[in-house]
Amino acid sequence: MTYCSKLSEFKRMQDVEIRKLKLECHMALPFRSALSDTEWCCAPNKSLERKRCMITYKLNHPLEADDVIRVFDSSGINRPTRDPERIRRMLKNANLIISAWDGNRLVGVCRALTDFSYCCFLSDLAIDRNHQHRGIGREMIALLRKEIGDEVCLIVQAAAASMSYYPRLGFEKMENGFMIGRKR
Ligand SMILES: CC(C)(COP(=O)(O)OP(=O)(O)OC[C@H]1O[C@@H](n2cnc3c(N)ncnc32)[C@H](O)[C@@H]1OP(=O)(O)O)[C@@H](O)C(=O)NCCC(=O)NCCS
Repeated sequence: MTYCSKLSEFKRMQDVEIRKLKLECHMALPFRSALSDTEWCCAPNKSLERKRCMITYKLNHPLEADDVIRVFDSSGINRPTRDPERIRRMLKNANLIISAWDGNRLVGVCRALTDFSYCCFLSDLAIDRNHQHRGIGREMIALLRKEIGDEVCLIVQAAAASMSYYPRLGFEKMENGFMIGRKR
């Protein structure tokens, strides 16, 4: 093969890859599903096995404590998962929970408390380890922001491992925050 034909072959391969990428990006655009007012579908843009898998997002869908504990533990987030009764109370008393589902399997939890008027505290954002880095966290934050609207300030206390995550999603670092920590 001459140098010129090698070059044109290389360019042709590049074109194919670029076309594939464009197609993937197009398919990755989230869309409002016809499921119901409180369910959305979205094809994540990244997948470990590169398989197309549809994630469904649900608003305030009742969650089993055991499923949430599984997601928390798998994600690496530090929550009192050895105390299922406390997790049940956390779920019962939160008023804005978005969950992500891969079929019937819970794979993401976004748990927040808000007055829908002025402030919202995002307490837990956790994605099952096998589903991380596929845009699910970003999508859940987008849905949360849509639910609370523009009047509401969204506050999160980031875990050390996610300090550089939230700025990617448009969060600004707070220099004027205070807290009284929990004792247990
Ligand atoms: C942090 C976490 C919620 C991110 O969710 P995710 O669905 O994996 O993240 P996304 O796929 O939406 O990532 C969005 C962007 O952030 C980046 N990102 C993902 N995790 C990150 C992290 N821990 N730190 C910095 N950036 C991160 C992604 O690469 C992606 O970048 P891109 O837009 O340039 O491609 C998830 O990894 C998780 O559950 N971690 C353990 C629990 C935790 O730390 N929760 C937050 C504390 S409350």
